[in-house]
Amino acid sequence: MMYETARPEKNPPLRPLRRLRENGQEQVEILDQTLLPYRKHWLRLNSADDALFAISQMQARGAPLIGIVAAYGLALGLGTDASDQTIAAIAARLAATRPTAVNLSWALRRMRERLRPLPPGKRAAAAWAEADAIAEEDARQNRKIGEHGLALLRSIAASRAERNRPLQLMTHCNAGWLATAGYGTALAPIYVGREENMEAHVWVSETRPRNQGLLTAWELFEAGVPHTLITDNAAGLLLLQGQVDAVIVGADRIAANGDVANKIGTSLKAIAARHCGAQFYVAAPGSTFDFSARSGGDIPLEIRNDDEMRFVFGQDQNGNYGKLRQVSDAAAIYNPAFDITPAELITAFITERGICAPNAALLAELFPEKVPHA
Ligand code: MRU
Repeated sequence: MMYETARPEKNPPLRPLRRLRENGQEQVEILDQTLLPYRKHWLRLNSADDALFAISQMQARGAPLIGIVAAYGLALGLGTDASDQTIAAIAARLAATRPTAVNLSWALRRMRERLRPLPPGKRAAAAWAEADAIAEEDARQNRKIGEHGLALLRSIAASRAERNRPLQLMTHCNAGWLATAGYGTALAPIYVGREENMEAHVWVSETRPRNQGLLTAWELFEAGVPHTLITDNAAGLLLLQGQVDAVIVGADRIAANGDVANKIGTSLKAIAARHCGAQFYVAAPGSTFDFSARSGGDIPLEIRNDDEMRFVFGQDQNGNYGKLRQVSDAAAIYNPAFDITPAELITAFITERGICAPNAALLAELFPEKVPHA
């Protein structure tokens, strides 16, 4: 695949969002992920509606990033009217865009709590500052996830040293820097490992129907991390052949008991990994844990538009980007975007506060502020 036009900046931490100030006006731009990996296009968000569209259409995607874009969307919406009613109305519309990733409602709640005590005249500036703080915090936390995860990967590599091959990892969807404010979650240990010359190879599953695996392959290509793209259906074969030491994925919401909502297909990999004796890790920051959900059954799973399965996007042989139909309108389609991986299939969580077993009591100890008051 050619990546001629869509090259991310080389100076880490790589970010899918940039802040500008023009003529005294705060501005925010996102990398339009619907055009990647074919074209790198910075898209200016001019209003809360632009942010809403970007999140719902997945120009910005990945649980931490959609929370951050929603926070900026709220800031954008407070131009002339920063009343409590306006804030509540904008936040409600943004929160409804994607139901599964809890980072979205988490970020909006944090924004509202920050703005509520302020007089309306001070709220717009405070909203931009708080959205910046959320983004900075996310990047910092992901770096920590990378450091904790790297220690874990090194110990797996040491325990498999007799195999005489680089550590073999598998990931699903895109939980790299594109999906966050920097570093990513599942890819953070790989990036930090790269900085420290850890040898690893990553199996990247395509992740139909939205093909977020192509974003992961693009990120890894740019970072010089050895990787191989596979179809989602090849994962079982590779696991059964012993070609995978550990699977590492991100999350959209983690319940109190450790059940995980993540991109559709995650649970299949967890089931196969357990059968094959491969480790299965979930990397996520505190903002992804939602202890008000007691288990996966309490997590709403987004069902997306049938057209995501009816059409594919890509480049033709002349390099033109476009859409091709692969299924007729008459076909019956079911397109759930997320699934639940039961806690019992998870080896451990990799968080900014350290590694944690998928155990309700230990998770509550790690994130006590997330435990709902009785
Ligand atoms: O539908 P998407 O692309 O927003 O789904 C993304 C995922 O499922 C990611 O694995 C998850 O949000 C973690 S991103 C750090």
